[in-house]
Amino acid sequence: MPTRETPTREATARGLADARVRTERLTAFDTAELTRQHSPLMSPLVWDLAHIGQQEDLWLLRAGDASAQGVLPGAVEKLYDAFEHPRAERVTLPLLTPDEARGFLGDVRGRVLDALNAAPEDELFPFAMVEQHEQMHVETMLATHQLRDGEALLGAGAPLPAGRAVPHDSVLVPAGEFVLGVDAADEPFSLDNERPAHVVHLPAFRIGRVPVTNAAYRRFVEAGGYDETRWWSDAGWTHRTETGLERPQFWSADNASRRRFGIVEELPADEPVQHVCFFEAQAYARWAGARLPTEQEWEKACVWDPALRRRRRWPWGESDWTPALANLGGAALRPATIGAYPAGASAYGVEQLMGDVWEWTSSSFDPWPDFAPMLYRQYSAPFFGKPDEFRVLRGGSWAVGGNAVRPSFRNWDLPIRRQIFTGFRLAYDVPADAGV
Ligand SMILES: [Fe+2]
Repeated sequence: MPTRETPTREATARGLADARVRTERLTAFDTAELTRQHSPLMSPLVWDLAHIGQQEDLWLLRAGDASAQGVLPGAVEKLYDAFEHPRAERVTLPLLTPDEARGFLGDVRGRVLDALNAAPEDELFPFAMVEQHEQMHVETMLATHQLRDGEALLGAGAPLPAGRAVPHDSVLVPAGEFVLGVDAADEPFSLDNERPAHVVHLPAFRIGRVPVTNAAYRRFVEAGGYDETRWWSDAGWTHRTETGLERPQFWSADNASRRRFGIVEELPADEPVQHVCFFEAQAYARWAGARLPTEQEWEKACVWDPALRRRRRWPWGESDWTPALANLGGAALRPATIGAYPAGASAYGVEQLMGDVWEWTSSSFDPWPDFAPMLYRQYSAPFFGKPDEFRVLRGGSWAVGGNAVRPSFRNWDLPIRRQIFTGFRLAYDVPADAGV
């Protein structure tokens, strides 16, 4: 893969500023709105707000040394330790008020920009890591907004490119080696679990050209897919019966409309299905005579260029993302219609891999060989090797901003999670005697 230009201080400052604009937009509401808990699954927005500043202070002003004095008094800072306080209890803590939190974030950011000006240009990774952390919380805050009841606060979202007719079939990825993962030299902003680059051989497989749509998923629902044990894994069936799942979250009971950021609208047939958990994705795949891709298959279909025998930086090639190539950045507040990004297709002709919806894979979250933890040592390692707890998601959603996603980026979550912006695409085994 061609080596990417080393990030500059200016580009890094721009990334931090872009993340902050998004944070401010999602928290520009009154105190009652920001301090309310909209769901036991989520923090009150004011917790995310101050936590963004607390992490920025910890990693950029104290090099990760939690015993060093930060901008906040120690007892207050501890309220924002995600490992100490589960989401459900955060609303009960004596949190900073919204105005206090905003003042804290501004104070930290001023000091961070001074530190950035003094930092050598080959030591900017921690700043990029913190920018990505803030962008991840922006996505979390969007999920909170989606869960809240009441009138629409965010509007309907910016327009997207129109879709086009494209076969909802699968493409063949022949057997062979490819390079999985990246090195810091290729992707300076990559996080520890994406590294290092290494050669992996995969048998031939087929993968969906496009993600599974609302219309296709609705057929599964209306064919009684939620009532037939045979499509579900044991754990999936237990979860489905215990929680009464009947259709994707936010769909109406007649499967004809959905609620999106406070607006009820007709279910868009040809948009990737959203807000399904891993178990639902897995059940649909079985019903459709398919399976979910592994994350290795997903990454190969996304970035491998079989003609040149090397990775691309993005599915479409080396050029930076633009709004004509993928639905990222969060402005749309929705996935794009199938076929909206012909120029964003991978070398194999797979479309809409980046953006739109996070895609569930069948993989548990494990380290690549020779994994080495980054500065934030607890980012990945505590979650590795727990196949019953976490599944990997790939490709980012429409809500992902800035430098917070790459083809090598690995997200992971509980298989029951569905308030995040998740969908999936299908994969198929190819018989060994198929001549490929
Ligand atoms: Fe966090």
